Amino acid sequence: MRSAYSDFGKKFLKQTGIGQLMDDLGNPPPGSCMLGGGNPALIPEVAAVWNEIVSKQIDSGAMEKILGSYESPAGIIELRERLASIFSEESGSEISPAQIAVTNGSQNAFFFLLNFFSGRFSDGSKKKILFPILPEYIGYTDQTLEENSFLSFGPDIRETGDRSYKYFIAKEKLDSYPDWKREAGCICVSRPTNPTGNVITDEELSFLISKSAEADIPLLVDNAYGFPFPGVVFKAASLIHKPGMIQGFSLSKLGLPGARTGFILGDVETISMLQRANSVINLTNANLGQFIALELFRSELWKNLCRDVIRPFYERKSLFARETIFLKWNSSIDYRIHESEGAFFLWIWVKNLSLPVSELYPILKEAGAIIVPGKTFFPGADSNWSHREECFRLSFVREDKEIEEGIVRIGSVLEKFSK
Ligand SMILES: Cc1ncc(COP(=O)(O)O)c(C=O)c1O
Repeated sequence: MRSAYSDFGKKFLKQTGIGQLMDDLGNPPPGSCMLGGGNPALIPEVAAVWNEIVSKQIDSGAMEKILGSYESPAGIIELRERLASIFSEESGSEISPAQIAVTNGSQNAFFFLLNFFSGRFSDGSKKKILFPILPEYIGYTDQTLEENSFLSFGPDIRETGDRSYKYFIAKEKLDSYPDWKREAGCICVSRPTNPTGNVITDEELSFLISKSAEADIPLLVDNAYGFPFPGVVFKAASLIHKPGMIQGFSLSKLGLPGARTGFILGDVETISMLQRANSVINLTNANLGQFIALELFRSELWKNLCRDVIRPFYERKSLFARETIFLKWNSSIDYRIHESEGAFFLWIWVKNLSLPVSELYPILKEAGAIIVPGKTFFPGADSNWSHREECFRLSFVREDKEIEEGIVRIGSVLEKFSK
């Protein structure tokens, strides 16, 4: 029977990458401290806003239209107009609604985009997706229809304190491999980065903008945790938009992952391709997220929510998780924490482990702590690079008690396996 599947179908016979992760995170053993997932926290002030918007929609009778109609696969026009004005204001660039597509989550949009810009081209060439810095989001890994579609560059690693470090784009690596211009169909980066919490600097982003212009290929920037919403960025940085960029946004990390609503900002041609692809694959977009977003953006409530509630919430959580680690982990564990500049995770590098982190994972699970091993966040990397097996991602969205207990459990396993 299996030979009856196409190569595309066979991609899904085996559960790998994001599918494996989502499965695993969806079924933690009872009593586990769940420091693995990418779910946003349940923040009461945020939940109250969703309740208020949805109650108003029910009371006004708007639900009939929300649940009972297909809207345009391009997205509801007033929503695209609102987004155009938000993106214009935030980036200082003139952006029109024709540059905006609505999609069923940004994961869905990235599937289209990564395949628009990689794979087979009509001149017979095969192009790859260039990741200018690793680690990078696991969710891109299995998305390309062609095998072997990543061209990746490891980072410069700089220690920034006794227990901290930060990744930077290794510009000289890119410059010393000029073939990337021929091999790459697009450049892709998440900002903040899932899993590291790195926010590439405005200067690094300008470097990538100039490189993509040099090669005449698009620069894809994934702002799922970033600007302008949910704005989970703990340092000075901004939304930058220049010609040649295609950027992803999402309602998920704002607190609405179940609404499956994302947005793409880009050039008019790519946006209309996305809208056409969307109607072929999905007919149209889920309505609930679009109508909640419309209300949120009309009322301008999103600004205060992001600035005064969501960002401070996660910044406090990040600090709590780091301080707990400093307090609870034995000094025999030679660890560094990546600078926590945004998103929901700490990225931890342990230098003196006697086992690779992927082998520690079941031991940690048995000890009641779920993390995500680092290995999966290095698409296209040299598999001999030991750093991949020395790192893991720890989410700080859960209740403080669970974070603390999880960190204690992880600490005792790491201590046992520290050389
Ligand atoms: C960096 C990044 N991009 C995109 C996504 C996909 O988000 P969604 O499809 O919910 O918009 C995620 C989800 O975890 C993410 O972490």
